[in-house]
Amino acid sequence: MATDLSSSTSAVTGSMGKLATFGLSILFVLVLSTLIPSTEAYDSLDPNGNITIKWDIMQWTPDGYVAVVTMFNYQQYRHIQAPGWTLGWTWAKKEVIWSMVGAQTTEQGDCSRFKGNTPHCCKKDPTVVDLLPGTPYNQQIANCCKGGVINSWVQDPANAASSFQVSVGAAGTTNKTVRVPKNFTLRAPGPGYTCGVAKIVKPTKFVTQDGRRTTQALMTWNVTCTYSQFLAQKTPTCCVSLSSFYNDTIVNCPTCTCGCQNNATQPGSCVEGDSPYLASVIDGAGKNSFTPLVQCTSHMCPVRVHWHVKLNYKEYWRVKIAITNFNYRMNYTQWNLVIQHPNFDNLTQLFSFNYKSLTP
Ligand SMILES: *[C@@H]1O[C@H](CO)[C@@H](O)[C@H](O)[C@H]1NC(C)=O
Ligand SMILES: *[C@@H]1O[C@H](CO)[C@@H](O)[C@H](O)[C@H]1NC(C)=O
Ligand SMILES: *[C@@H]1O[C@H](CO)[C@@H](O)[C@H](O)[C@H]1NC(C)=O
Ligand SMILES: *[C@@H]1O[C@H](CO)[C@@H](O)[C@H](O)[C@H]1NC(C)=O
Ligand SMILES: *[C@@H]1O[C@H](CO)[C@@H](O)[C@H](O)[C@H]1NC(C)=O
Ligand SMILES: *[C@@H]1O[C@H](CO)[C@@H](O)[C@H](O)[C@H]1NC(C)=O
Ligand SMILES: *[C@@H]1O[C@H](CO)[C@@H](O)[C@H](O)[C@H]1NC(C)=O
Ligand SMILES: *[C@@H]1O[C@H](CO)[C@@H](O)[C@H](O)[C@H]1NC(C)=O
Repeated sequence: MATDLSSSTSAVTGSMGKLATFGLSILFVLVLSTLIPSTEAYDSLDPNGNITIKWDIMQWTPDGYVAVVTMFNYQQYRHIQAPGWTLGWTWAKKEVIWSMVGAQTTEQGDCSRFKGNTPHCCKKDPTVVDLLPGTPYNQQIANCCKGGVINSWVQDPANAASSFQVSVGAAGTTNKTVRVPKNFTLRAPGPGYTCGVAKIVKPTKFVTQDGRRTTQALMTWNVTCTYSQFLAQKTPTCCVSLSSFYNDTIVNCPTCTCGCQNNATQPGSCVEGDSPYLASVIDGAGKNSFTPLVQCTSHMCPVRVHWHVKLNYKEYWRVKIAITNFNYRMNYTQWNLVIQHPNFDNLTQLFSFNYKSLTP
């Protein structure tokens, strides 16, 4: 599914049961219920989904250590999209970052207490971002430099991790004196993730490529971050419209599903497709913003999913799904669509999509 999503269609055939108008209204409720933000700190469609951040201390140095930090996206369908992740923490003591490979801090902070060599970052609460693709080889390590983009574990396992190396000074120099950082924050990009405390775990073992030798980290700690739709955004991110072969009426997305057009209180909350203003906002400073910039529609949603019933027999039914992107800030190169439907445990045919069942 590596195509740009401007508008994409595909057909799904479900089996079992006639999908009558009754079925349609049931379906509508089910799909909408997945879009309504939940206050739960986890996603019921991906209850074990998390992002795990692992720190492996590879080497002790005279005043600290060198660690490789790796983020694993153990979520079934949620990617970290451009402009990518931002990772923050608070040092437990007066640690500084001498240097980094494969990432950088956004601010250096006040390093005036250092004479001679200047650290990369002296902030008590550094904020780290990934480097961009095309970074010179001598500043790269494995799994770095993807502009902070991490795909989901199920959809693209080869690109589900991101790493950087950090050399820490003014820190403990043994596994008894080192202090784990506190208060991890992950923005991916925008809010939504909550991180737990770092836990010291069994040191990671690394197996060489030929499988003939195993080395291990000197010390390892893990931090787990989980996603909450409620923290991320209070409005839904898409809406569903419906139509069928047996009725000319198209049931549009409900008005104001994702917000209302209100020129008086929120001018610029949406943009007309033919507006000359459009080119300037897309290219402008807002380009890396995670806030959607939507085309003006009655529903104001960044994405519309249209569900057209093409066939409806006793043995099976077939629908064509069309997805339209109304968000000028997103191209969605690695998109996926999550649908909950009672008949989907027995999908018989699927065209122009890859498909995977999440939870049976
Ligand atoms: C994070 O996800 C992985 C993969 O699903 C799972 O093995 C692990 O137990 C999860 N961690 C936590 C703390 O939930
Ligand atoms: C610290 O290192 C010693 C050996 O140098 C080891 O026996 C001990 O288990 C380590 N402790 C931790 C918490 O990793
Ligand atoms: C944790 O980080 C957040 C955001 O950076 C900050 O508001 C909060 O005060 C920090 N808490 C502690 C205990 O440092
Ligand atoms: C720590 O994270 C790594 C990488 O995700 C994982 O392999 C390991 O099992 C985790 N350890 C614990 C104790 O959760
Ligand atoms: C088509 O659907 C609309 C809206 O549900 C309904 O009012 C109308 O009666 C239907 N027409 C036919 C011919 O079933
Ligand atoms: C808001 O403004 C746009 C263009 O400026 C206009 O097309 C639209 O009809 C207005 N909406 C309302 C609800 O007034
Ligand atoms: C989306 O892709 C188009 C065409 O490749 C490009 O012109 C545009 O800048 C991209 N937009 C964003 C927000 O990346
Ligand atoms: C799934 O669909 C196939 C083909 O329509 C059918 O043969 C099979 O019995 C169905 N399985 C279940 C569990 O309903």
